[in-house]
Amino acid sequence: MPIARAEIERLVSSYPTPAVVGAVGSHSAIDIADGAATEGLANVVLAQRGREATYARYFRTLRGPDGARRRGCVDEVWEYAKFADLADGASQERLRGRGVLLVPNRAFSSYVPLVTVEEEFRVPVVGSRSMLRIEERTERDNYYALLESAGIPTPRAIPGPDAIDRLVIVKLPHAARRLERGFFTAASPEEFRAKRDALIARGTITSDDLAHARIEEYVLGPVFNFNFFFSPLVPRAEGLELLGVDERRESNLDGLVRLPAEQQLALPTADRIPDYLVVGHGTLTVRESILEEIFRLGERFVDASRTRYPPGILGAFCLQTCLDRNGSPIVFDVAARIGGGTNIHLGLGHPYGNALYRGPMSSGRRIALEIRRALADGRLKEIVS
Ligand SMILES: Nc1ncnc2c1ncn2[C@@H]1O[C@H](COP(=O)(O)OP(=O)(O)O)[C@@H](O)[C@H]1O
Ligand SMILES: [Mg+2]
Repeated sequence: MPIARAEIERLVSSYPTPAVVGAVGSHSAIDIADGAATEGLANVVLAQRGREATYARYFRTLRGPDGARRRGCVDEVWEYAKFADLADGASQERLRGRGVLLVPNRAFSSYVPLVTVEEEFRVPVVGSRSMLRIEERTERDNYYALLESAGIPTPRAIPGPDAIDRLVIVKLPHAARRLERGFFTAASPEEFRAKRDALIARGTITSDDLAHARIEEYVLGPVFNFNFFFSPLVPRAEGLELLGVDERRESNLDGLVRLPAEQQLALPTADRIPDYLVVGHGTLTVRESILEEIFRLGERFVDASRTRYPPGILGAFCLQTCLDRNGSPIVFDVAARIGGGTNIHLGLGHPYGNALYRGPMSSGRRIALEIRRALADGRLKEIVS
């Protein structure tokens, strides 16, 4: 049974103060910690041993004799043998005892089993706990179903390899690194089979995963990840904000496209199939005449999420799009939580967030601001689940 929202509401009504902003130490934890520090909230990063140095050493808060922050933004690091241990009974008790409000990022929803998140993790989540599962493409009730019900354009689904009549992208997990991608493209059933065989042979994908893969039209156009924020604390018409836009750098895919065509063709076959391992992000703005359509998609997403997953999306979310040849956004993925690329605006803010807030506004800072506002107004229960 999923944890009832009423239970979380009761929990936060007797929560220790001051609240502490928490995040799992990976993905966008620095943005979250930085935002909390800027808004004057304490923060804790939940790290896995062996992966803690970024937080515990390099971005750790150092204070002067007067207690003032001299450097860094990560106030505390709690280490776990494995990330999943943070959901253990004793760990939950510690989190509640300190008044931790956990900001879900992809590391949280990847490393803690979703059924644990939904049914056992009795710590307030700043966002929409029940929507984390829609990211799993293998679920029936996934983000494609939500986008469809919202009337948001998605890449056309191709029923099977034999129906490939255009360039497609085949989406399945990496055979060994389960949280990474084993994606590949193909423009015909023959190319699909040739690449399938090559990728299985080199251990990138398995035929089991392939049986459940999503095959969809490859949208030829640049990727724009729109980092939105929705606040339930203001009238609906003022709730949606666009804070920033990022794009990804993907390991040898980006290496490949930086080579002249002749050198690409001279590469050994194995090197010509790109890997989609995310290794970084850059920042973008979008042509201004396209912005209104982006906001329309954001509004539809908010409305559909409120219908299908009440109370709907709370706080940060990200619509990952390709803009097609007409400049129309096609949404190929959704994060119902802070996106993976928001470190692009940490500290500095982003042109769009800054234009709204008249000063540096990142996703992490916006989340902390929301927590601060909710605390001040006694409305914390409206922004957690
Ligand atoms: N339909 C598509 N058309 C073109 N490129 C796509 C499409 N779907 C995904 N991509 C590319 O693959 C990358 C990862 O896709 P995504 O669906 O976000 O998978 P994941 O969330 O597992 O990383 C995107 O950043 C984009 O570059
Ligand atoms: Mg994605």
